Amino acid sequence: MSAINPRAESVGIVLAAGHGSRMRSRIPKPLHSAAGKELIRYSVDLMVECGIPTIVVVASPGNVDAIGAVLGDQIHYAVQPQAGGTADAVAHGLAGLLTMPKTVAVMSADTPLVRAESLEKLLDQHASGSHAPMTILTAPNAFGMDLGHVHRSGSVDPSGVGPVSAIVEARDRDADAPDPTEVNTGVYCFDGKWLAENIGRVPRSGSGELYLTSLAEMAADTGNAVVAAPFALPDEAMGVNDRQQLSAVETVLRDRINCHWMREGVTIVDLATTYIDATVSIGQDAVIRPNTMLIGQTTIGEDCEIGPNSVIRDSAVADRCRIIASVVEGSSVHADVSIGPFSHLRPQAIIESGVHLGNYVEVKNSRVGSGSAAGHFCYLGDADIGTDVNIGAGTITCNYDGVDKHRTVVGDHAFIGSDTMLVAPVTVGPHGLTGAGSVVIRDVPPAGRVVGVPAKLLPTNDEE
Ligand code: UD1
Ligand code: CA
Repeated sequence: MSAINPRAESVGIVLAAGHGSRMRSRIPKPLHSAAGKELIRYSVDLMVECGIPTIVVVASPGNVDAIGAVLGDQIHYAVQPQAGGTADAVAHGLAGLLTMPKTVAVMSADTPLVRAESLEKLLDQHASGSHAPMTILTAPNAFGMDLGHVHRSGSVDPSGVGPVSAIVEARDRDADAPDPTEVNTGVYCFDGKWLAENIGRVPRSGSGELYLTSLAEMAADTGNAVVAAPFALPDEAMGVNDRQQLSAVETVLRDRINCHWMREGVTIVDLATTYIDATVSIGQDAVIRPNTMLIGQTTIGEDCEIGPNSVIRDSAVADRCRIIASVVEGSSVHADVSIGPFSHLRPQAIIESGVHLGNYVEVKNSRVGSGSAAGHFCYLGDADIGTDVNIGAGTITCNYDGVDKHRTVVGDHAFIGSDTMLVAPVTVGPHGLTGAGSVVIRDVPPAGRVVGVPAKLLPTNDEE
C-alpha cells in the first residue's frame, strides 16, 4: 500500500493582486523579473516543487491576463476586484474552490527568496499533529523593518517552534516598541476548514485593509494556538515592494545561483561580475570568466570557457567551446567551437562543430558548417556555409537589396578570398574559389574560380 501523501490534499494560494504602487511601474509587480525569472514564477515553482498539486493565483482585474499569459493554464486564477488587503485576496482565492482542502498554503508573489527546504519544513510542521489552524513561516529579523513582526506568547520547542499571540504590521507598530527579532515571511499553512470559517471575520485595520495577519491574533484570542515555525533564513523574508528591494533580492539570487553552479563543478572566477539567470544550466568543468552574463534559456556544455566579457542569451552552447569577449543571442553553437574576441552571433545562427569565428565576425540567421573558419571581420547573414569553408577577412554577404533579404549558399570546401562581396541571392559551388576583392553577382559553379568586379569565371586549367 502506498503511503498517504498529505500534500495531495493541499491547495496553494499565491497572492498577486494589490497595487504594487511602491514599484512605480506600468508593469504589474509579480511580472518584474529577478535573475531572469518573473517574481510570481518563483512562488508558483516553489509550490510545485514542494508537491502542492493545485495552485490558485489571486490576480487583479488589471493584471490577470498578463499573469495568465506568463503562467499558462496549469494554474487556476481568481480575481480580487479591489485591492482590499491580503485577507480579502485569500477570501477570493478560496471562493473558487469547489471543496475545502485539508491544508491551504498561502504565499505572496513578491517573495522570491523563500527556499523549498523552508516550505517543506513548514508543511511538515503543520501536518505534524500540533493541530494549529495557522502555521507561519518566520525568519530572524535582519532586513525586515517593513514586514510583519511576530509576537510570541509562550514556550518554544528545541527547533524554535512555538505559539504566537499576534503579528503586528510595521506600519501599525508603536514608535517606542523594541526592534523586532522575528518577522513574518508571508508564507503560511492553514487548516482549510478553519480558514474558510474565519477569513470573512477579519476586522478592518486602521489603514482600511483586511490583513491576513490579523488571523493570528483572532485565533490566539479564541484559544487556538497559532504556531510560528522559524525555519527561514533572514534573507528569505526579503520581499519586493520597491526597486531597491528588487535589486537587493537580485543580489541574493545571483549569489545563490553562482554558489549552486560551483557546487555542481563549474569554476566561476569572479562572483561579483558573473550574472547567471535562474533559467540557465551549465555543464561540469566549465569556466566562467569575469564580466560575463548568461541570460534566459541558455545552456552551456561541459568544459566550456566563457568570457571574460561575454553575453550569452537564449542560446545552446555545446561542450568544449571557447567564447571570449563576444555576444551570442538566440543561437546554437555545437561542440569545439571558438568564438571571439569581439564577435556577435545574432538570432538563428547555427555554428557547427569545430568552427572558428575570430575577431569581429557577425553571423545572423545562418548555418556555418563544421570545420569552417571566418577568422577576421566579416558579416554572414542569411547564409548557408558548408563544411571546411575558409571565409577570408572582410567577406560580406550583401543580403539586403533595399527591399528584401536574400540567401547566400557556399558549398563545402569553398575558399572565399579576402574582401569578397557575395551579392545575394548567390551560390558558390563546392570547392569554388573567389579571388580577393571579388564582387560576386552570379553563381560560381562547383570548383569554379572567379575574380574581379563584377567577378568573372576564370578558365579551368584544361582551357588555359
Ligand atoms: C505582507 C504581510 C507582512 C509580511 C510580508 C512578507 C500582511 C498584511 N502583511 O506585507 O506581515 O511580513 O507580507 O512579505 O499580509 N496582495 C493582494 N491583494 C491585496 C493586497 C496585497 O493580492 O489587496 C498581494 C500582493 O500582490 C503581494 C502580497 O499580497 O504579493 C503581499 O502584499 P504586500 O502589500 O506586498 O504586503 P506587505 O506590506 O509586504
Ligand atoms: Ca510585500
